[in-house]
Amino acid sequence: MSVFKHHAKLETNIFFLAVGILLTVVVGGLVEVVPLFTIESTIEKVDGVRPYSPLEQKGRDIYVREGCYNCHSQMIRPFKDEVERYGHYSLAAESKYDHPFQWGSKRTGPDLARVGGKYTNDWHVRHLINPRDVVPESIMPGYPHLKRPLDYSDIQADLKALKTVGVPYTDEQIANAKKDLEEQATSEASDAAVAARYPKAKLGSADADPKVTELDALVAYLQVLGTMVDFTTVKPEKIAR
Ligand code: HEC
Repeated sequence: MSVFKHHAKLETNIFFLAVGILLTVVVGGLVEVVPLFTIESTIEKVDGVRPYSPLEQKGRDIYVREGCYNCHSQMIRPFKDEVERYGHYSLAAESKYDHPFQWGSKRTGPDLARVGGKYTNDWHVRHLINPRDVVPESIMPGYPHLKRPLDYSDIQADLKALKTVGVPYTDEQIANAKKDLEEQATSEASDAAVAARYPKAKLGSADADPKVTELDALVAYLQVLGTMVDFTTVKPEKIAR
């Protein structure tokens, strides 16, 4: 057949072969990569996932600053042992507002993707200051310096920056960032405006200090992890594929 005749010519000519390989790789690569640019359709929509509240976001910055990710992943894999230990496997949508994401495979400590609500604020505060106080055999380092006041002078700029990379903070959320942060860290009122803007945000001071501390922020962040999606109503099997 004539196609094969041309094929032989192509294969025996180093120049045409190189061009042929290049074309194949380019076309194959584009076919794989281009659909991912329409990221809206790549990550399924899941009810309940919202941007972090200003206090949680500050806590997340501390988590990253302190390098907690060196020992903790935030990604439950879809395997029986993982699901039995940690809960429902992580959905892509659950980390879609994470910049940078905290997936990973390095686990010196347990996965934290669903640690929210597992312990009390008090437990977290004691554990962070000195893990051995609550888990005698723990090898986790203590972080007593987190008792210091939280610097949140740049919180509005933080949210704005996140908005430019795709986190859908509203103008109202950005305008109220400071107020919301302070309210979440100090108020226990169930009608708090911050709770309306950020459903399921855990209110109140985590430590005994009336000032907003780094511990307040980090604990607010830990307590929301994995709690945004209600798996009694969201069934990933039913999410459109
Ligand atoms: C050197 C490794 C290491 C680092 C760094 C580290 N941890 Fe841990 N973490 C552990 C280990 C080991 C455990 C299990 C023992 C325990 O509960 O203390 C643990 C447990 C935890 C738990 C309890 C999890 C559960 O489900 O019981 C939380 C919450 C936690 N770490 C948060 C943090 C935070 C926040 C940081 C950063 C400020 C951090 N860890 C840094 C090793 C580490």
